[in-house]
Amino acid sequence: MALNRTFTMIKPDAVKKGYIGPILNKINVAGFKIVSMKMTQLSKRDAELFYSIHKDRPFFNDLVAFITSGPIVAAVLEKDNAVNDFRTLLGSTSPEEAAEGTIRKLFATSVGENAVHGSDSDENSVIETRFHFSDREVF
Ligand code: RTP
Ligand code: MG
Repeated sequence: MALNRTFTMIKPDAVKKGYIGPILNKINVAGFKIVSMKMTQLSKRDAELFYSIHKDRPFFNDLVAFITSGPIVAAVLEKDNAVNDFRTLLGSTSPEEAAEGTIRKLFATSVGENAVHGSDSDENSVIETRFHFSDREVF
């Protein structure tokens, strides 16, 4: 899989608030091409696997409850330097610390309900893409 790709999820808070369209527009305007996308809902087991790196953190149970609380939009995005540029577009984990104009500044509610996920490395981008999409869903 190409290294100029990143995996993203629009989280349940943003889907519930009707922000799918505005968030996809920000992603497009920032120069990312959508190469895979679907709306789905994670089971508790899916969420525990996806976030297993955080399993010993105090917020893990809240994180699993939140991410399974409603539908998400999973997508793979393509752009030069996709992982880092998308993390910049997202802003800090907490919307209070996120820079003006970032997705989390505009659309997140709190550090937990922070609207959108972005992979933190090329390696995790591949792992997260394979978690959510079969080979014939990645273009
Ligand atoms: P993400 O993985 O969703 O792109 O977010 P991130 O890299 O900025 O943050 P990370 O450290 O990977 O944490 C994953 C998600 O866990 C929730 N969280 N809650 N209550 C808290 O203190 C806390 N800290 C993290 C957030 O939803 C965060 O996005
Ligand atoms: Mg992360």
